[in-house]
Formats: sequence, C-alpha cells, structure tokens
Amino acid sequence: MNRIISKDRLAEGIVDLRVEAPVIARKRKAGQFILLRIDETGERIPLTIVDSNPEEGSIRLIIQEVGKTTYSLGELEAGDSIKDIAGPLGKATHIENFGTVVCIGGGIGVAPVYPIAAAMKEAGNRVISIIGARNHDLMIMEEDMKKVSDRLVVATDDGSYGIHGFVTDALQSLIDEGLKIDLVVAIGPVPMMKFTSLLAKKNNLPTIVSLNSVMVDGTGMCGGCRVSVGGKSKFVCVDGPEFDGHEVDYDELTMRQSAYHDMEKEAMDIYHKCKIGRDGEDK
Ligand SMILES: Cc1cc2nc3c(=O)[nH]c(=O)nc-3n(C[C@H](O)[C@H](O)[C@H](O)COP(=O)(O)OP(=O)(O)OC[C@H]3O[C@@H](n4cnc5c(N)ncnc54)[C@H](O)[C@@H]3O)c2cc1C
Ligand code: FES
Repeated sequence: MNRIISKDRLAEGIVDLRVEAPVIARKRKAGQFILLRIDETGERIPLTIVDSNPEEGSIRLIIQEVGKTTYSLGELEAGDSIKDIAGPLGKATHIENFGTVVCIGGGIGVAPVYPIAAAMKEAGNRVISIIGARNHDLMIMEEDMKKVSDRLVVATDDGSYGIHGFVTDALQSLIDEGLKIDLVVAIGPVPMMKFTSLLAKKNNLPTIVSLNSVMVDGTGMCGGCRVSVGGKSKFVCVDGPEFDGHEVDYDELTMRQSAYHDMEKEAMDIYHKCKIGRDGEDK
C-alpha cells in the first residue's frame, strides 16, 4: 500500500499527489513512469514520476481526470492509500549538455516535461521552456517550470494568458528570433506532438517526444502500447516512452489510443452510476 501524503488541485480536473514510494523515490530518473492500481480490482494505469523526495520517500504524480481510474484517483484524499505502485519503469531520458534545449509541454504534458527540463538544466543546458493550455485557468506548473528554465514562454489557445496561440506558434517565434536550438523535447496531446515535430523537422531540429499510448501490463508482453517508429514496431513501456519525434507514426498512435473507447465509456458510465448511488443523489 502506498499512502497519499498530500493532495492539491492545480486546475479543474488536475490533481497533484505526493505519495509514499521510498524505493521508487530513490531510483527514479527523468523520463520514467510508474504503473499504479488503486485497488484489487482496478486496472493499471501509467503515470509519469514528476518529481521525488528521496529523504521523505515520496514521489509526485500529477493526474488529469479523463476516465474511471483517474477520476477515482482524484477522489482520494491525503491519508488514503493506493493498492500498489510499480516502477520506476521505462527508459530514462538521455541527458547530456546539448547546448540549448527547448522543452515544450502542452496541457497535462507540462507534468512529464518538468522532470526532463530539470535534468537538462542540471546537466548545464540552457533550458527554454514553452508551456501551453487551452486557457489561463488550465495552465499548470508555471512556477515549477520557471525554476528549471532560463526562459519560460506561456501560450494559451484563447489568448487569456501569455501568447495567443499554440505552443507551435511560440516555437516558431523562437525560431524567427534566430535562436540556435540544439534539441526540442515536446510532450502533450498527440496532435501537439505531431505538429511540433513537423515544425521542428522543417527547421532541422532534433526532437524527442514522450508517447502516451494505452498500456496494459507494462512489461513488453501484451502489445497494448505498440507504436510504429521509423517503420519498426516498438513498445512504449520498455522501448520508450521517449522516441525520435520525426520517426513516430502519429496517425496510427491516434487510432490505437481510441481502440478501447467503447470499453472506457462503459467503465465511466458504471463509475458515474456507482458514484450517484454512493452520493445518494438518486434518492
Ligand atoms: C508513459 C505514460 C505516462 C503518462 N503520464 C501521465 C501523467 O503524468 N499524468 C496524466 O494525467 N496522464 C498520464 N498518462 C496518461 C494516463 O495513463 C491515462 O490518462 C490513463 O491511463 C487514463 O485512464 P482512465 O481509466 O482514467 O481513463 P480511460 O477510461 O482509460 O480513458 C478515458 C479517455 O482518456 C483517453 N486515454 C486513455 N489512456 C490514455 C493515454 N495513455 N493517453 C492519452 N489519453 C488516454 C482515452 O482514449 C479516453 O478518451 C501517461 C501515459 C503514459 C503511457
Ligand atoms: S503495456 Fe503491454 S507491451 Fe507495453
């Protein structure tokens, strides 16, 4: 059992948990994730290890509520426990002093890009970060990102905060400034990673993306997280989660992400019915 030490709400539908996991807190590296199961009957879901505190023996998880398991996690409070957490999983980010690294996080993608930006900064890179959200209320981790960046650019789709536009518009502005960029790291929704990679490719910028495929066992055995990278089959859980952004087949990834829509919808309907029953709203 892993006890929740603290819980905060960063924005509507996004929770920030500090959870006891001493071994993972000691071992984890930037780019790695955990698989957690809330209870005996729950499905396993992957979540990035956003940060850790080895002295306290805790890890930080930032979760967007999108379906049954993430909504259930959002209902837990400090003092509650999660049944099991396995990790650290996946390959750690390749960190070295590249020069200038642009770290881009879109939406909940800011959470997984944060530890990479921190490690890149620690390795002596000049880190320029771009974080984007649909609107100001949904912008997360601005202060965290500021601390690990030499420069932070914020963008909102509706112009309610920072640059009016997508993170790709902000990247285009940096390119137009004549900034010499040695590496782009982009994490967020699949279309955001696709279009960021296309823009980066047009400008000959090496690009890393972190893929959020659906996972089942997390051990490379079930094939649930298979993606095509450079025409070859790869498993996000053991070969990734990071890949060369120019080589990923994003259209196939989008298709595979929606493969379980009917089952996910059914699970969510049952969850809502049970919640109404628990809350007594149907009485
Ligand atoms: C390596 C890795 C790291 C991740 N890190 C984080 C993180 O730090 N924070 C976070 O909030 N989420 C993260 N995710 C995504 C997270 O695992 C999913 O949102 C979660 O599994 C959804 O479970 P659910 O039961 O709540 O929703 P489901 O009922 O499974 O799905 C609900 C909706 O979300 C979509 N969805 C399901 N799985 C994913 C997925 N993997 N990526 C994108 N959309 C999905 C479905 O298509 C559906 O529309 C990560 C995924 C991977 C592979
Ligand atoms: S989750 Fe099963 S192969 Fe990756």
